[in-house]
Amino acid sequence: MKLTNPKLDRNDPCWCGSGKKYKKCHMAFDEKILGYELAGHIVPRRDMLKSAAQVEKIKASAKINMACLDAVADAIHVGMSTEEIDQIVYDTTVRMGGVPACLHYEGFPKSVCTSINDVVCHGIPSDDVILKDGDIVNVDCSTILDGYFSDSSRMFMIGDVNPEKKKLVSVTKECVDIGIKMVKPWTFMGDMGNAVNQHAIANGYQIVREIGGHGCGVEFHEDPWVSYTSKPGEEMLMVPGMCFTIEPMVNMGSCEITEDEEDGWTVRTADGKPSAQWEVQVLVTETGCDVLSW
Ligand code: MF3
Ligand code: CO
Repeated sequence: MKLTNPKLDRNDPCWCGSGKKYKKCHMAFDEKILGYELAGHIVPRRDMLKSAAQVEKIKASAKINMACLDAVADAIHVGMSTEEIDQIVYDTTVRMGGVPACLHYEGFPKSVCTSINDVVCHGIPSDDVILKDGDIVNVDCSTILDGYFSDSSRMFMIGDVNPEKKKLVSVTKECVDIGIKMVKPWTFMGDMGNAVNQHAIANGYQIVREIGGHGCGVEFHEDPWVSYTSKPGEEMLMVPGMCFTIEPMVNMGSCEITEDEEDGWTVRTADGKPSAQWEVQVLVTETGCDVLSW
């Protein structure tokens, strides 16, 4: 069996860069992880675990990311174009010394994703897309600062939103809050994903299967992939230092989706019913998790 993490000698310097001997640093931690791996579980690679210094860098990036979403929250209104949202995100990010992670990412043309009603994700801001009374819109923002990435998104309700869509938005938020509570070291990503999914199902909704959360911090999208159709006790073991997003896309109707063939980005519900998403970026700690970006 090929182990996920190479073995070290007890007197080697620890892999974490502390300068301490391995036996005085991460040896017991690694042995605990190895026990799970030998029992058949998927475990994280060492390079996925963020050091305290890296966490500080990610937090600094997240400060900009959250400032962007706060600025959007202050300005968003009926009649505004999604292009104006993009401008706010670009200006706020650059003014604070960051770079919008979405801009030119795999050819994405704008600084933020704006996804209205039946648009599930990756909506492209445009002068031609105007927020209307009753719309629900997800604004998904990602920032690079000093090479470190943050990623979170929020829903906004425009004017007078009908009760069905309001409920979709609030249940989706509850799904993320449940996910946050389920992030605990030495439990499994599948425990978290399943709890998120069960809350959506209990409300008659379906979560998109093909697109999920992801590790985030040193790269925009890192391992692990975060699914919400996973089962308890399955998927990767969570250990302190892992950093990933929780970002379920919750559909009022079917979970089936389509991708726009013309722009290559916009994802919509196949049945045309609304979809909502909130996204947070969390760090697994010794006792649970810290929400780094929301
Ligand atoms: N921010 C999205 C996420 O949550 C990624 C958007 S990629 C883009 O992972 F290119 F569409 F911006
Ligand atoms: Co994300």
